[in-house]
Amino acid sequence: MLPRPSLPDADPPGAETLGLSGEEAIQFREQGFVIKRGLVSAGAFRPFLDLWWRQPPVTTANMTSADPDSWVSPGDRWPDENRWSLAKNWMGRGAWPTPEDERRGAAVGERVGRLPHKLTRDLSNDVWRWHGIGHDPGFVEVTSAHPSVLHMAEALLGGPVKRPRRNRGIYAIFPRDPAGSVSKLGPHMDQSMTEMIVITYLHDVEPGSGGYTFYPTSPQLLYPTSEQALNWVATNESKDVMDHIKTNVQPIEFTGKAGDVLFCHGWMVHSAGIHESDKIRMAVVQDFNKVRPRSHMRWTAAGKHGAERVSCDMGGVFTFPLDKDDDPADGDREVTNQWIMDSNEFVLSRHRPLDDMFAEWNLGRLSVRGQVVDEPAWWEKYGLPLLPTGSVPRGGGGTPAVRLDKIARYQGEGRWKVDSHANEWM
Ligand SMILES: [Fe+2]
Repeated sequence: MLPRPSLPDADPPGAETLGLSGEEAIQFREQGFVIKRGLVSAGAFRPFLDLWWRQPPVTTANMTSADPDSWVSPGDRWPDENRWSLAKNWMGRGAWPTPEDERRGAAVGERVGRLPHKLTRDLSNDVWRWHGIGHDPGFVEVTSAHPSVLHMAEALLGGPVKRPRRNRGIYAIFPRDPAGSVSKLGPHMDQSMTEMIVITYLHDVEPGSGGYTFYPTSPQLLYPTSEQALNWVATNESKDVMDHIKTNVQPIEFTGKAGDVLFCHGWMVHSAGIHESDKIRMAVVQDFNKVRPRSHMRWTAAGKHGAERVSCDMGGVFTFPLDKDDDPADGDREVTNQWIMDSNEFVLSRHRPLDDMFAEWNLGRLSVRGQVVDEPAWWEKYGLPLLPTGSVPRGGGGTPAVRLDKIARYQGEGRWKVDSHANEWM
């Protein structure tokens, strides 16, 4: 179904006031979202938008803020080299590999994970996800850790809220090539540990301009189909419900002004918006969680010597095949994680979905008391590189591959068990 825009006249009372009104709490409970208008003053974003225009790929692609023609599908002019904002720390020593490089710990061309400057050519629009700015402390201060945003996080999720140490950064969707195919939706859910998704606009977003598009009620429909309440574990029923949502639920395109903020349940089905305008859609995509006991980080080991890549399971175990040329006991193997996330560890509790999916949420029941905990970031708990170091500029950085034997112990029979340092700080 085609989306309808989230016009302010459809907001429940309270959209322009800090806090959660009774009507907003009911809307979140029934539909899984609330929009707060003007929650952050747009002037706070200015230095980061200025920095955006000075980033290497933007200048290389000859884009300028004064020339809207330069914004149209810049992918043709985007540089191939997207690695200049990364330290030489791949496997602790080398440059991040290109698709052609020989590697000790992985087959040639194996995935390296996200790069700070990579652009993708999505269904019809080019998209640049500037993940590197997402761990900039000054940027986090005016987005995810902005006092009004933390206030809303506690009003919705309830305390103790984990103070975000990073977000996914600025997602820019560019005007499409007028000669190319029309923009369409790609609904999905993120299948991460995120409990609440938050979207902040850095510019005004009009209807049809690539606004974050979401399927109200989808979390309510999906929640009972998961095997677990806090870690998403899909079942056959989840697939049927997903098909139902994609076919029968009318999505909403989040439209509004710079500084407007959308809060959604973490299992909200969503899509990049239909973008037929001549503007760049700039949004910050953020993940929120409560403080909880956690288990290990979610890691993926690269394929090598003809074997496939393998992810560790929720018990922290990698199982490598015994019938391939690849030696399963070989610990000199690249492992990567989803470093764009703030919460990268599974939740320790495996309990089943509750009768009331919001039983542990606040939804305005208790007044906000500032129950926000500045727990160590995952990269600090595990001593992993992420932040820019040395000559790496602001807006760069990222977690490189590390050796498998740095994060896990071999147990024989192709099994490696990942170490957990999740709760030592508590
Ligand atoms: Fe997504």
